[in-house]
Amino acid sequence: MMISMALIWAVVVAICCCLWLILGIRRRQPGEPPVENGWIPYLGCALQFGANPLEFLRSRQKKHGHIFTCKIAGQYVHFLCDPFSYHSVIRQGRHLDWKKFHFAASVKAFGHESMDPSHGYTTENLHQTFLKTLQGEALPSLIKNMMENLQSVMLQSDRLKASRSEWEVDGIFAFCYKVMFESGYFTLFGKELDGDQSIARQQAQKALVLNALENFKEFDKIFPALVAGLPIHVFKSGHSARENLAKTMLHENLNKRTQISDLISLRMLLNDTLSSFNEIGKARTHVAILWASQANTLPATFWTLFYLIRCPAAMKAASEEVRNIFESSNQKVDPKNPHLVLTREQLDNMPVLDSIIKEAMRLSSASLNVRVAKEDFLLHLDNKESYCIRKDDVIALYPQMLHFDPEIYEDPLTYKYDRYLDENGQEKTSFYRGGRKLRYYYMPFGSGVTKCPGRFFAIHEIKQFLSLVLSYFDLELLDSAVKIPPLDQSRAGLGILQPTYDVHFRYRLKAQ
Ligand code: HEM
Repeated sequence: MMISMALIWAVVVAICCCLWLILGIRRRQPGEPPVENGWIPYLGCALQFGANPLEFLRSRQKKHGHIFTCKIAGQYVHFLCDPFSYHSVIRQGRHLDWKKFHFAASVKAFGHESMDPSHGYTTENLHQTFLKTLQGEALPSLIKNMMENLQSVMLQSDRLKASRSEWEVDGIFAFCYKVMFESGYFTLFGKELDGDQSIARQQAQKALVLNALENFKEFDKIFPALVAGLPIHVFKSGHSARENLAKTMLHENLNKRTQISDLISLRMLLNDTLSSFNEIGKARTHVAILWASQANTLPATFWTLFYLIRCPAAMKAASEEVRNIFESSNQKVDPKNPHLVLTREQLDNMPVLDSIIKEAMRLSSASLNVRVAKEDFLLHLDNKESYCIRKDDVIALYPQMLHFDPEIYEDPLTYKYDRYLDENGQEKTSFYRGGRKLRYYYMPFGSGVTKCPGRFFAIHEIKQFLSLVLSYFDLELLDSAVKIPPLDQSRAGLGILQPTYDVHFRYRLKAQ
């Protein structure tokens, strides 16, 4: 009897060992965070996490505490849920590689060669390129071009011209998408070079950008699947949409355009001089920039405008701020001569619009901040606990947890347009948890070195859009009691989530 029990145990242990090996299951070692392998080989907890990341992480936090490890699609991910410890990850950056994940994701989605200089295809320091061309001295010309493009796109609708005082009905998302995509596209990638300003030429230019918009939409649909590792060949129309976009961005085509932004012209130069990419590979790196510049901005603009139209108090405060700014610089709103200007200083001095945009993004942002461990190391948390992290493991922050934390934001699911205004009507920066002031309370743009380099331009362009929409148009919801559309969770982890459906509104030129 003793022998047969021992034999059975030996067989069970052997089977378990084989399963650990085959399924790649990890056993928690002393000093490591609690680990969940999930039940599905390779995928681990991916499906539960993907279905509702916030709920998944909250339930695991309740069970395990501030840090725990989940196997997700073959990768061990340490989720850090204590906002006071976010700074620890940023401070211990020397153990962490922030580029590896980003470079790999970009290659998977856009199909260019690796942009990581250590892989030998380019020596460009992409991070520096972004900082140089999207921030500081680069901003005034981006602002100027965006303002001109927004006004020309917003006021050129044929229907608007035909019946200036008639209401026009559209989806809020559809409207934001058209206006922001087209204006942002022209601002970064310029316009066609030839001096021919004829109606036929303008229509051809319009057709080109609308074509780019359709391709962008088609490609953007499959983006989450590509980042998750599915090959693009599985998606016939998404694949051809990406390649169509790339063809328009071949250097021979971009060279025919005028008013190209510093970002794109510098990237063209560096592609040509520092990389060994072929022509289509170079064009695909520009598609990556197009995606980065639009994929979050479009839904962020939607949520901002949607909440604004729905909230009379927000509408009143925003309209007043915008009117004051234009009046104080002696500018007259005239749709027949649409040349309103906003300087960088003016844009940086609009606390109401700032708060309105922040609140809309707090409610819709679901980005995942990811770093890869370069070596085995000890991660020190704010509460003095330390955890062993293995080389190649991922450390992830999911800021939606703090954006929806009722201890930080009272009534977190409610839209409060003035949440980020202090008692003097200026930007509020003091937020607390458990009586302690938080350093990190708002993170839709990521954190540390990987923080979005386009964040200043993004906020400026949304403020410009709002200022112009509020100045030129009357706006109304078709159904004033409309419900808030749910967030499309299929994109969780990638940034600002889209609405699952559009909301209709109507707009018309203001009586002058
Ligand atoms: C509301 C709009 C936007 C949001 C919420 C947003 C958010 C983000 C986030 C979360 C990241 C990743 C950061 C990380 O991994 O920690 C990112 C990266 C990036 N964003 Fe934005 N972004 C926006 C608009 C823009 C715009 C207008 C541009 C202009 C070109 C831009 C350019 C980039 C680039 C180039 C990167 C990659 C940076 C790198 O890998 O070094 N973004 N953005």
